[in-house]
Amino acid sequence: MKMHNVEAGGASIPCLGLGTWAARGPECASAVSFALEIGYRHIDTASAYANEEAVGEGLRASRVARDQIFLTTKVGRDDIDEGRLERAAEASLKRLGVEAVDLLLIHWPNPAIPLKRSIAALCKARRRGLARHIGVSNFTIRLLAEATALADEPIVANQCEYHPWLDQSQLIAACRKSDVAFTSYSPLGRGGDILAEPKALAIAGRHGKTPAQVLLRWHVQQNGVVAIPKSANRQRIAENIAIFDFSLTEAEMKELFSLARPNGRLISPGWAPAWD
Ligand code: A2P
Repeated sequence: MKMHNVEAGGASIPCLGLGTWAARGPECASAVSFALEIGYRHIDTASAYANEEAVGEGLRASRVARDQIFLTTKVGRDDIDEGRLERAAEASLKRLGVEAVDLLLIHWPNPAIPLKRSIAALCKARRRGLARHIGVSNFTIRLLAEATALADEPIVANQCEYHPWLDQSQLIAACRKSDVAFTSYSPLGRGGDILAEPKALAIAGRHGKTPAQVLLRWHVQQNGVVAIPKSANRQRIAENIAIFDFSLTEAEMKELFSLARPNGRLISPGWAPAWD
């Protein structure tokens, strides 16, 4: 079994990527180069993570050719107006040391800036070659519908929190309908108590895998879903990609879906939209 790509809006996105939130400096660079050396082909960063230079260093330190890597960055919510978005994207490219990213996302919606202007600027960034593909993050069903209606270039991804505690079925269905990949951030629930869920432990035991591997398998077995677990630890980076030699049964998938709970969302800053 090989890692598959999720195809959406003309983009081909490796279904597993390395998240880099909260990793900085040499630790981040080393995590990125190690991940690429052991087979990761998708790296996710953001200008807000203050680690784009380190990610760029990691890319160069690995022996993997640039065109083999799917690299995503995000523009911050204060930088999504016309003019400003392009300048922010150019600054990201400079910090990363690349000519273009594979995917440029609006990191969070911002009601203070008309979405029409943000999407026009994002499309322009793609036409100018700053990004091969464009997308959004933390967009609700309504915002995603507005964005896809406004865009004259394909919106290929919506990156949002997702793990078995958080039911995202309606949002994922909306993404599939619009040919948009759904990228799960915090796919391991930030590495917290979710990994001690008895159901995840029992499934892990049956497959000789860890609960983290079971959760990641649950993500990538869902049509159109990409997962980007963050780790700066070599052992866990390796653990998180060793998920293509087993699969979950339909019953096991259902058991994990049954963990969804009303208060399952872990990440909701003050500027978050009114969630679905
Ligand atoms: P570390 O970087 O020390 O490995 P998420 O992507 O869901 O936000 O989870 C990231 C958190 O989970 C990080 O704190 C990371 O810590 C931890 N983590 C990543 N992979 C694993 C794993 N396989 N098992 C346990 N914890 C993990």
